Amino acid sequence: MFVPGLIERKRDGGELTAGEWRDLMIGYHEGQVPDYQMSALLMAAFFRGLSAEETSALLDGMMASGIGLKFGDRSRAVVDKHSTGGVGDKVSLVLAPVVASLSVLVPMMSGRGLGHTGGTLDKLESIPGFRTDLSIDQVQAQLERIGCAMFGQTPEIAPVDRRLYALRDVTATVESIPLIAASIMSKKLAEGLTGLVLDVKQGSGAFITASSLDLARTMMALGEARGCPTVALLTAMDRPLGRACGNALETEEAIMALRGEGPQDLHDVTLALGVEMLLLAGETDRARAAERLEAGIRSGRAAETFQQIIEAQGGDPRCVDDPALLPQAAAVEVYYARAAGTILEVEPRTIGRAVVQMGGGRQRVEDAVDPTVGFVITARPGQTVHTSEPLASIFARDGAGIELGRQALDRAIKIGEGSAAPLPLVAARVSAKGVEKLA
Ligand code: URA
Repeated sequence: MFVPGLIERKRDGGELTAGEWRDLMIGYHEGQVPDYQMSALLMAAFFRGLSAEETSALLDGMMASGIGLKFGDRSRAVVDKHSTGGVGDKVSLVLAPVVASLSVLVPMMSGRGLGHTGGTLDKLESIPGFRTDLSIDQVQAQLERIGCAMFGQTPEIAPVDRRLYALRDVTATVESIPLIAASIMSKKLAEGLTGLVLDVKQGSGAFITASSLDLARTMMALGEARGCPTVALLTAMDRPLGRACGNALETEEAIMALRGEGPQDLHDVTLALGVEMLLLAGETDRARAAERLEAGIRSGRAAETFQQIIEAQGGDPRCVDDPALLPQAAAVEVYYARAAGTILEVEPRTIGRAVVQMGGGRQRVEDAVDPTVGFVITARPGQTVHTSEPLASIFARDGAGIELGRQALDRAIKIGEGSAAPLPLVAARVSAKGVEKLA
């Protein structure tokens, strides 16, 4: 393989063959292709794009670098959900236990906070003792025992993706639909799924700002072509999801949602994704799927399943009954409306960045995350408010953190005349049958 020739062809707008992509992935994995050549190739791919065949070959090459989960009991549906990432997105913490309580196997492999967005692993680790670094054997054993495991990408799952992603992160080549789609699907398809639901976020708080519809279509096609029925929902991220932003605060809100006491938008998105998961798991009726999910929450079975998961992964399950056991911020302050009028916007990217700056996310890979900091924002776009009405609470380590939070809320919450135009919570459904507008 003559790598400069492959880079040159891609740079000049040509295509690489499936064999060439495979060799590149193997070569990179085995250390024969150095980072500088891979960086150049990624930049060429970023600007020139990849054809559907190339994206597919890239995915196959990435998957071939690792191994996947295998299930002894092939009669059971194995379904996961993946979110492209946003602010206040704690859906996985609610959805995985609810769906697993309905006899579907849910291998919920998740990530850490990236950029301004939070990560499920960081949220789970706010539960005292909770471990997310499970081995593949531990994941498989836990799935067979309680139907769900919540864990991070193991070293065996698509290892080349892990290195490529780190390289893309520092070479400004993340925002490319084929590269993102192959990266996400290389991990998800290694889970041995019989179905996959994608939550593709749209709006300023989304981690990925590339066209949500194109991304959804590309990932869906990759899943379907590999025998994994895949459905994507396009959901709103032009405001935070739910009220809580910040690891422990979001975990507490997810627990409330599991008990049927969470905010309506979180409940609605969870239910919409859960219905798709159950349909992929063999349920034939949409209304019945929704009712089964609601019953799982009402009956307390979903909350019990979350307790089992927490206990199995070393955490303190009592926090489901008593969220006050989660770590608490040292400083708390209520934030009041600066003016009267309509809430025109609660801009999520500003909120997400503030959580990171306050210590709730990483500015460098090695940073420790403070689980206690963040916001609970009750203000919603479209709401009419009067001066000095409470709109949010700021949770911080100290006065400096409170000040950072206050300034962020000043920028993020826009109050004025006129009306807000928030995106529909669930805008469209993308499946092998096409795109269905839902709002
Ligand atoms: N998340 C991933 O796993 N990969 C990407 O490329 C972007 C987001």
